[in-house]
Amino acid sequence: MDKFVDIHHHIVYGVDDGARSFEDMQKMLLRAASENVGDIICTSHGTPGGHPFPADAYIEHLAKGQAWADEQGLEIRLHNGCEILYTDASPRLLKEGHFPSLNDTWNVLVEFSPDAEFKRLCEAARMLGNVGFQVIFAHVERYSALRNFKNVQELREEYGVYMQMNSNTVTTKKGFFTDRWVRHMLDEGFIDCIGTDAHNTSSRPCSMKLCHEMLKARYGQDTADEMCGGFARNLLGL
Ligand SMILES: [Fe+2]
Repeated sequence: MDKFVDIHHHIVYGVDDGARSFEDMQKMLLRAASENVGDIICTSHGTPGGHPFPADAYIEHLAKGQAWADEQGLEIRLHNGCEILYTDASPRLLKEGHFPSLNDTWNVLVEFSPDAEFKRLCEAARMLGNVGFQVIFAHVERYSALRNFKNVQELREEYGVYMQMNSNTVTTKKGFFTDRWVRHMLDEGFIDCIGTDAHNTSSRPCSMKLCHEMLKARYGQDTADEMCGGFARNLLGL
């Protein structure tokens, strides 16, 4: 099968709470390669209206990481991206190009505070949609409003929201009720893609292989491939 695509990964050093140094980034690249990840969308945090996106450092550090990966013969391609915290300023600032979209397409990875109300989630999809963006909600397991499956369904069907789940949510037991929710989300096909949300190589490492294996065991090869690569590849034109 093709290599995996990681649509959520904080690998660019010195711009957020992910990699702290070039050495950290190198370790994360090696780890991603060992996890069979071939494409990484470099989704550093962005808070529109909070502080400006550190574009110069981001571009320079991403290029440096790519050059190092190429020198090492790692089959990894790094792509622009951002994990946008949804704020009132997000639609305008995204539209004006102050924050990178996913692989420079009209797709954005959006996060919220865990207790964000359902109407705020709808508003984000609507307002970003109004300025032309397709929205992917980051780590949907974090939001209390999505514990209600009706809300999940409405966001998907009426607002066209795509949903990303973190790989370690699939592979780690989190307790009876959460596990049941996760299983239902997967069983119903409510999760479009998996991302690792890697921040380092210790406490929050890139981990795709085990997740893919577990998805394959439960849902079959095609579904596992789609969630760990195919979906993002098609959506982002990789
Ligand atoms: Fe993240």
